[in-house]
Amino acid sequence: MNVGIIGAGHIAQKAAITLGAMEDMQCLAIGSRSLEKAQSFAARFSVPRAYGSYADLLADPDVELVYVAVPHSCHFEVTRDAILAGKPCLVEKSFMLNATEAATILALAREKGVFVAEALWPRYMPVHELGRELLASGVIGQPKMVTASIAYNVSDKERVLRPELGGGALLDLGIYLLNFVRMFFDSPIERLNTTCIKADTGVDATEDITLVLADGTLASLQASAWCQGGNEAVIAGTTGYLLFDDLIHPTRISVCRKRHVVERVVQMPPEITGFEYQFRACRDAIRAGLLEPPQMPHSESLYLMHLMDRLRAEWGVSFT
Ligand SMILES: NC(=O)c1ccc[n+]([C@@H]2O[C@H](COP(=O)([O-])OP(=O)(O)OC[C@H]3O[C@@H](n4cnc5c(N)ncnc54)[C@H](OP(=O)(O)O)[C@@H]3O)[C@@H](O)[C@H]2O)c1
Repeated sequence: MNVGIIGAGHIAQKAAITLGAMEDMQCLAIGSRSLEKAQSFAARFSVPRAYGSYADLLADPDVELVYVAVPHSCHFEVTRDAILAGKPCLVEKSFMLNATEAATILALAREKGVFVAEALWPRYMPVHELGRELLASGVIGQPKMVTASIAYNVSDKERVLRPELGGGALLDLGIYLLNFVRMFFDSPIERLNTTCIKADTGVDATEDITLVLADGTLASLQASAWCQGGNEAVIAGTTGYLLFDDLIHPTRISVCRKRHVVERVVQMPPEITGFEYQFRACRDAIRAGLLEPPQMPHSESLYLMHLMDRLRAEWGVSFT
């Protein structure tokens, strides 16, 4: 399957490296607002076609899947144009700026019969199924508490710093925490407590989110785009706990019965970068005639967008 990447930025490079190492998919084209930038990206990652506008990439009849890798504030317009051009899309997280944009895009995709998916990559990784299997096996008893944090100092990035680009820690990093809970717990969120520290630009820099699920599980989550930290996550149950070494890109899940006593380690299989799972999932879903990938249904993207709208409303953070 031929993939076209839109936006020749940071994450586009990782996607190009991944696709370059896959046997069954390739990056056919890169689209940038600058032809020079597209050509330099194409030369660096051996991409056959370079376009100096996003519209030119969307007009390429050989592009079978568009990977949208632009700032959050641009997701809507780029994805809308791709859907109108009839191109299936894999859109980087966070899917859109807010739930209104997400609902509009999903309705358009449905109306046009075009596949669209959110590139929330842990959803497509083996950890999703393996974690759920471990929980269902009862190995830690009844899950009761989730503790997770994620912190990268990316405060020098324009797209994180600036509200008009959809900046802030939540859309960039916090979404992984919310996704972690949603990936492993089917119970709805019943209560929510939250607070945040804002950056000088008004975006959320560091935040604390406590969720209480209807099944009685409590999730204590922290995200920051202003400091460097670990990304560990723990799901604690009545008889033990699961330790995920990285909640975005785990290499292993340790099963512990007593504090620091590791009984079993579930290792993730060898991979290229971890991005290949989301590309393969899209390819399989498109070939099966689906409009959404089973690993990350549209309803989940929408749920997360509503949840993040609610959090920003609590903090008094807006993108305008
Ligand atoms: N999955 C992951 O692990 C991961 C990691 C980091 C980021 N992301 C996500 O990927 C997306 C892009 O992030 P990134 O780190 O790659 O960003 P980035 O390095 O800033 O690149 C974004 C690209 O978007 C294009 N663009 C279009 N309109 C723009 C505008 N008004 N201002 C700036 N750039 C604009 C630019 O490409 P051209 O100049 O070529 O048009 C730019 O290079 C975001 O949704 C982010 O959350 C995902």
